[in-house]
Amino acid sequence: MIDYQSILNNIYQEVIQEKDKGEIATYIPELANIDKNTFGIHLQLISGDSFSVGDSEKKFSIQSISKVLSLALAISKVGTNIWNRLDVEPSGNPFNHLSLLELEKGIPRNPFINSGAIVIADILVSLLDSPKIDFLAFIREISGDSGIDYNYKVADSEKKTGFNNYAAANLLKSFNNLENDVDVVLDFYFHQCSIEMTCSQLTKAFYLLANKGKCLANNKILTKSQAKRINAIMLTCGFYDEAGEFAFEVGLPGKSGVGGGIVALLPNEFIISVWAPGLNERGNSKLGMQALEQFTTQTNQSIF
Ligand code: DON
Repeated sequence: MIDYQSILNNIYQEVIQEKDKGEIATYIPELANIDKNTFGIHLQLISGDSFSVGDSEKKFSIQSISKVLSLALAISKVGTNIWNRLDVEPSGNPFNHLSLLELEKGIPRNPFINSGAIVIADILVSLLDSPKIDFLAFIREISGDSGIDYNYKVADSEKKTGFNNYAAANLLKSFNNLENDVDVVLDFYFHQCSIEMTCSQLTKAFYLLANKGKCLANNKILTKSQAKRINAIMLTCGFYDEAGEFAFEVGLPGKSGVGGGIVALLPNEFIISVWAPGLNERGNSKLGMQALEQFTTQTNQSIF
């Protein structure tokens, strides 16, 4: 038996002493005031037990982590047809990079860079009766938690400053890879990114991906193959131009967000979520990556 609680406690003690905690994302003004010293981990085993340490019950902005959940909803509704509009290749570029999108004629490299997530948002806007209400309902359903919500101030803050995303959406539109109005799609996209969750809520939302497509309440949301493919994209693209480093250091499929959260999972075993808001130069949580490297090393559990 692995003593998960003492491993989490040890990681917490070690990591909070780090002097260089990375930098808070300030390009979304509403995110700039977060305390760099917050740090939490939650571990949810598929068998049911869970363990936590630090600020695991504090809500934070999940940002790009939401791209996995929007992809899951789009795939559950549309299936493989979504791949006509975007690819599944790592981009090797930052999450907001634009020139590759132009070179590759409006087909985003993958659903986790911003342009790819905007295409998924467009698919959901076309598909759902009330996109914002329905997407939130989906997340509440898979996590079994009705307390999850948008942060409207964060969404508004990004709407006012998200010029790069407007550029990406306009480029997509110019290549006929956006069905709906730029403003409508981005309104949905900024809201999905603004969702706030705790580490423990995140592990519950991602349970279905470690559990062959079945969520916590045992409802089948995705097929086994769909869950496998989403995990594959997380492994190869979940950390943008640092995806190789995350696979190398941690060895799990995972996804980061500029709010400082990371979720990672070992299929059939566990889901782990870390929140440490200071980011490294690639926009991924600095201490979060460090903590997860320690976790898979000390528990000897990874996909490799
Ligand atoms: O679109 C953006 O720039 C943000 N709403 C999300 C970016 C993000 O979280 C990148 N991940 N590390």
